Amino acid sequence: MESLNIMFKVLIFIVSLNIRVVFSYEVDTYDFLMPNVYPHRDELYLCTPIRISPTQNFYIVGFKPNATMHTAHHMLLYGCSEPGSNDSVWSCGEMQSSKVDSMYATSSPCSNGSQIVYAWARDAPSLELPPDVGFLIGRDSPIKYLVLQVHYMSKFPAGKTDNSGVFLKYTQAVMPRQAAVLLLGTSGVIAPHKVEHMETACTLREDKVIHPFAFRTHTHSLGQQVSGYVVRKSMSGDDWSLIGTKDPQKPQMFYPVVYNSPIGKGDILAARCIMKNDHDYMVKIGSTNQDEMCNFYLMYWVENDTPLDMKYCFSIGPPFYYWNTAPEEFNRIPDIDDNSV
Ligand SMILES: *[C@@H]1O[C@H](CO)[C@@H](O)[C@H](O)[C@H]1NC(C)=O
Ligand SMILES: *[C@@H]1O[C@H](CO)[C@@H](O)[C@H](O)[C@H]1NC(C)=O
Ligand SMILES: *[C@@H]1O[C@H](CO)[C@@H](O)[C@H](O)[C@H]1NC(C)=O
Repeated sequence: MESLNIMFKVLIFIVSLNIRVVFSYEVDTYDFLMPNVYPHRDELYLCTPIRISPTQNFYIVGFKPNATMHTAHHMLLYGCSEPGSNDSVWSCGEMQSSKVDSMYATSSPCSNGSQIVYAWARDAPSLELPPDVGFLIGRDSPIKYLVLQVHYMSKFPAGKTDNSGVFLKYTQAVMPRQAAVLLLGTSGVIAPHKVEHMETACTLREDKVIHPFAFRTHTHSLGQQVSGYVVRKSMSGDDWSLIGTKDPQKPQMFYPVVYNSPIGKGDILAARCIMKNDHDYMVKIGSTNQDEMCNFYLMYWVENDTPLDMKYCFSIGPPFYYWNTAPEEFNRIPDIDDNSV
């Protein structure tokens, strides 16, 4: 598909006259790739958008990454109601506002309605969604744009450009189960020579039932284990069910959850990252490779419903926030080494 205007490539469905087998539907692929960008310095985040046709609905049903870990440290796909910029490429690191970029204008990935749709790092393979599940984008979705963000760790040699990105599998067939991602994470700092636990928790206040099916963890080099839980309050001892846990030094792909029962109103979602700082200096949460991150992505579907309005669950992290002082007033907290609750 070609650019239809100068600003944005527009995603259009090509009507096919092929006869279809009953119970199957037409799936097309859109190559959502960086347009021959030149990463002109180290630690560069670049963003590129596509505008979704506002008169049609599409469901994304699969993601095939097209990148290698040597080039791209990570890639994130954001859904936005408004993109962060009207440029075809911009610089979009969260903490780059202090740095004036010589080559690309600086802006966030989205200027409004930001949510994560897909994430990739460390040579993770393709992600297929379960049957009947898709991410709704376009007419009836708050997602009017998709923005691809690629984190380039190192400056490229002169003349070399990049096309990292993701091949999106999409359909116009209506998927009865809409997918979405809830991102749990923290801010905060990790003191020198310390094992720190970075924790967050949020109560589901919306009258919806979510079905978790995949999770992904993300930290930089200090992360040892990242775990996500659903918690049900009880006088006799809060019940913590593990949704998924992973060593973030393993490939940071979406893995199947170990807990896939429905989660509803009043349930609490929580995540913890165990970080080990052997350095003589403090490490803070931030966007560069010298900083850390504590992220647990929960991918879920809802049946004949729209996804949660809640897209993020973040705490300020250590030294100010821990589960034992959280407003949920947990009366039981899993041991720091216990990932088998
Ligand atoms: C991404 O895809 C393009 C075109 O399909 C290809 O030329 C390029 O080599 C790919 N890049 C990587 C890193 O796989
Ligand atoms: C992009 O262009 C539209 C239409 O001209 C404008 O309303 C919007 O504010 C612009 N967005 C940014 C981030 O500059
Ligand atoms: C921001 O996006 C929301 C939908 O996600 C929309 O309701 C709202 O009007 C938008 N605000 C602006 C200023 O564009």
